[in-house]
Amino acid sequence: MINLAILISGRGSNMEAILKSVKKNKIPVKPAVVISNKPDAKGIKIAQKLGVKTVIIESSGIKGGSWDYDKKIVSVLEKYGVTPKNGLVCLAGFMRIMSPEFIRHFKGRIMNIHPAILPSFPGLHSQRQAVEYGVKYSGCTVHFVDEGVDTGPIILQAVVKVKNNDTEESLSKRILIQEHKIYPKAINLFAEGKIKIK
Ligand code: GRF
Repeated sequence: MINLAILISGRGSNMEAILKSVKKNKIPVKPAVVISNKPDAKGIKIAQKLGVKTVIIESSGIKGGSWDYDKKIVSVLEKYGVTPKNGLVCLAGFMRIMSPEFIRHFKGRIMNIHPAILPSFPGLHSQRQAVEYGVKYSGCTVHFVDEGVDTGPIILQAVVKVKNNDTEESLSKRILIQEHKIYPKAINLFAEGKIKIK
């Protein structure tokens, strides 16, 4: 069985969708721990209500990409049995850049969800970028994390039509509905050994 860790920084709606889907659809992973870098992340309480262990590793004042900080994450993951052999680390609104060392340590075992059809609109405020650019379709992407920003191998995508009167908020809402569907699906594919990175 794969031991699953979810890393969050805020609302935690993707985390919630994943945890609920793991239970409901019997996805063969064990939710081992939810880690937040923000003590006030709303998702922490949601995880606790769903019976999952939570750990806060405060990151304020520590630059993204710091291996010293990420080592703390590795040691918490190890404590909860999430290892490079049997673990899966899902970033779900985790607002930090991971260090190259962390990415190499968990190579091919870190996933992220991004609210755009990559490689379009990487980075922050993707939904705003999509509305401002005037694209007619956007969506979301689940991908493996590599050493770039939103550049790793793509696992699943869902397309959302952009309406003429869409705002960043209205588009974000419709994309989020799709995020909640494809992230659990991608985890299921991984858990069933159906993903190969070529
Ligand atoms: C989502 O839009 C996700 O695509 C992006 O950050 C947001 C996190 O939302 N990476 P939530 O915390 O899962 O509700």
